[in-house]
Amino acid sequence: MSKYTIAWLPGDGIGQDVMEAARMVLDALRLDASYPQGDIGWEFWCAEGDALPERTVDLLKSCTAAMFGAITSKPVVAAEAELRPELRGKGLVYRSPIVRMRQLFDLYTCLRPCKAYPGNPLNFKEGIDLVILRENTEDLYSGVEFHPVPAELASTLSSLSKPFRPFQGLSGDQYAVSCKINTKRGSERIVRAAFEWARKNKRKKVTIVHKANVVRASDGLFLEEGRKVAREYPDIQLDEANVDAVCMWLLKNPFNYDVLVAPNLYGDIISDLCAQMVGGLGFGCSGNIGEKLAVFEPSHGSAPKYAGQYKVNPIATILAAKMMLDWLGETEKANRLENATGAVIKEGAVRTYDMGGSARTLDMARAIVARL
Ligand code: NAI
Ligand code: MG
Repeated sequence: MSKYTIAWLPGDGIGQDVMEAARMVLDALRLDASYPQGDIGWEFWCAEGDALPERTVDLLKSCTAAMFGAITSKPVVAAEAELRPELRGKGLVYRSPIVRMRQLFDLYTCLRPCKAYPGNPLNFKEGIDLVILRENTEDLYSGVEFHPVPAELASTLSSLSKPFRPFQGLSGDQYAVSCKINTKRGSERIVRAAFEWARKNKRKKVTIVHKANVVRASDGLFLEEGRKVAREYPDIQLDEANVDAVCMWLLKNPFNYDVLVAPNLYGDIISDLCAQMVGGLGFGCSGNIGEKLAVFEPSHGSAPKYAGQYKVNPIATILAAKMMLDWLGETEKANRLENATGAVIKEGAVRTYDMGGSARTLDMARAIVARL
């Protein structure tokens, strides 16, 4: 039996292409692992009405970790229209499998390193090395949403909230409510994860990203809990920044930042900003990490127009595999993989289209394997 069981979830679109590339490097590293394949993505929604079938959830329960490619998703009405005819009109609602995995397995940390590998022609500036920890289960992604707004909710809000007054005369279909729910436990543990990560990786500063001056209740709580945690880490500097300001400052001077921690939505937004500074979608990778399971993935989607063409850049997925190796404690293999990837980027002989070259997905994987 292998040491690790890694659920292999390519999904659809270019998810298949980039995962094939990632597998080439893991095989070349001779990781002692088996890779049972799991069904996930658009074809399973169309055929079964579930993009994350129960058998895949069961598979995940039996695995050490998972590698996930990408999946196509579509708005509710368009999704319903592509269901097998027998399944239509049964009230099936498309839900994002990745959001479901995060919630089902309490993968509360979304870890997103954004590092400018030297010589990458897509770097905004050389030397950027930021790490984002995004809260992954609560906040505006908690799924507590209303449209139309039920009368009971409107009447409760009328009696409890003065700022609700301008909305109280509206009929329920004229507005929508999405709840931003942040808990003490959720805020505490993600900020702690950020400080722990900083300490372990010899980082100097953690910036808590928020908008507590306006979103007083939920962001106020996040910031308060964060400050309490920070007191336990006197060796690491605490910094606090409003989410809007930090977007500007990150662009102006990325070197003033080190580790950033944020509630779910702000974390999502600053992740894309930071990913673009180090090469964009072909380089952005992330780990969804819980206490028992972690799922690693490129940040990009299924890019349907390139599906099956083996044209896109697999580096994001290969760096996600590197993150998985770190998480497994396979540090030597993780470092070898990162060094090989860095060497190929620096050399510049093999570049995919996004980097201005004409190399194909598996050419990039082969070049990295050759440098291992
Ligand atoms: P996308 O990330 O799939 O692609 C946008 C564009 O970025 C592509 O057309 C391509 O030009 C470029 N790109 C993406 N990955 C690349 C790579 N590895 N190398 C080079 N270029 C790359 O985003 P889009 O087009 O908004 O969404 C397509 C589908 O993917 C949608 O159905 C969306 O819902 C889904 N999606 C899934 C995600 C996931 O599985 N985690 C995340 C984001 C979107
Ligand atoms: Mg995103």
